[in-house]
Parts: sequence; structure tokens; C-alpha cells
Amino acid sequence: MVVTLEADVAKVHAARSAASLVQPGMIVGLGSGSTANLMVRRLGERVAEEGLDFVGVPTSVATAELARELGIPLRDVDDVPHVDLNIDGADEIDPEYRMIKGRGGALLREKLVACVARRRVTIISPEKVVPRLGTDSPVPVEVSRLGWRHVEQRLRKLGATTALRRTPEGMMFITDGGNVIIDCRFSALADPETLEAGLKSVVGVFETGLFLGLCDVLVVGRPDGAEQIVTHARRWTGCA
Ligand code: 5RP
Repeated sequence: MVVTLEADVAKVHAARSAASLVQPGMIVGLGSGSTANLMVRRLGERVAEEGLDFVGVPTSVATAELARELGIPLRDVDDVPHVDLNIDGADEIDPEYRMIKGRGGALLREKLVACVARRRVTIISPEKVVPRLGTDSPVPVEVSRLGWRHVEQRLRKLGATTALRRTPEGMMFITDGGNVIIDCRFSALADPETLEAGLKSVVGVFETGLFLGLCDVLVVGRPDGAEQIVTHARRWTGCA
């Protein structure tokens, strides 16, 4: 994906627009990645400027560190009964508001927090909208570090071309949960729901980056502002 200055400006607009949805007293899921970071920074400004009082539920160690620096009070997902509003980025989103997430490696916690949220807001720049999932992004699959080679073989049998995710230094990428990620490409990703069920049936797979039925509001940033779209997307049965 080509990241342009225009995309960066669009991310800022999307982030600010979504941050304006946070109201006093809310429990807010704080996503991960560059767009989510901009949203967290905007919330930090609102805390400083207006004394906005809310609780954040971070979806990664990196987001928790950033939020803490900005003076945002935090709780773990297990310490809240639900999340009122979850705001997170995405790598791709299709016309049915199905998404691929996890380029930053935070997919497990991101999906857990999204699943307990009453309203899920996705913040993106326009190039993330694709006609079909898998257009540009692989599907990240978080798997057990122990036995990952065997899990990888099973994923290949499901039709994936696989790559173990590595750090820029060539080391195994280890998630916040201590697992590894296998990035999976499929020649035709026509039926994400069936693929999700297939991937989750493999022993050793903890979570996938397919986020289906988890976008209630899509905020698309543009060079000159942001558009909020209420999706009416079908709710996903995978959440508790
Ligand atoms: C991290 C994610 C991110 O939300 C996704 O990769 C989008 O990131 P960015 O806003 O930097 O483009 O899923 O696991």
C-alpha cells in the first residue's frame, strides 16, 4: 500500500471526527495503529482542554503506554462490564463493512475489546476501502508459538500462501500475548465467513484478522474532513 501525505491528513480527520463521539462517563475501547494513535492523542487533548472524564480500555501495550502518557485513565478489558464505544483502525474494509485488521499485530486484543463494545467505530483513510478483502492485505492469523510450523501446514491445506511475520531485524514477531503471527494470502477470498470458521477450526489458532460484523460506524477521513457512515452491518454471532 502506498502511504501518501494525503492519507496521513485523512487519518487525522477520521481520528478527530471519531474522538468527538466520546462523551463524559463512557468506557472507550482504544484501538491500535497509526490512525488509532491519532485518535488517542486527540482524546488526550480533550482531557487536557475540557477535563473530559472517561475510561479507556487499551487494545495493545503500545496504546496503553501512549494513553498513560496523555493522562487517560485506563482499565483492562476484564475490569469493565462492557465497552460503550470502541474506536479502532483497519487495514481493509469491503462494501459489506467486513474488515481485515492486524497489520500492527494487535488483532487478538482488538477483537476481544470490539466484541464487548456496544458501538464499534472504524477509522480509516479512503484507500483502505477495497472491492474485496485480501486485495492488498494478507489475513493475519495469531497462533501458538509452540507448534507454529504444524499450524502453518494446516493453514496451507486451507489454501493459504503463508509467511511467518518477522520484525524488521528478521526476528520472529511476538505479539503482546506471547504468540506468533502467520500472514495468509488466499488467491480468492470470496467468502470471509466460511474462511473465518475454517481458520478458527485449526488447533493452535487463537484469532484471525478477519473482523466480520464488527463495524457499526465507519469514519472515512478525506483531505478536507471526514464522513461518518452508520453501517447497519449484520451483527456477528462470534461475540459473547
Ligand atoms: C493493528 C491494526 C490497525 O488498526 C490497522 O493495522 C490499521 O493501522 P493504521 O491505522 O496504522 O493504518 O489492526 O493491529
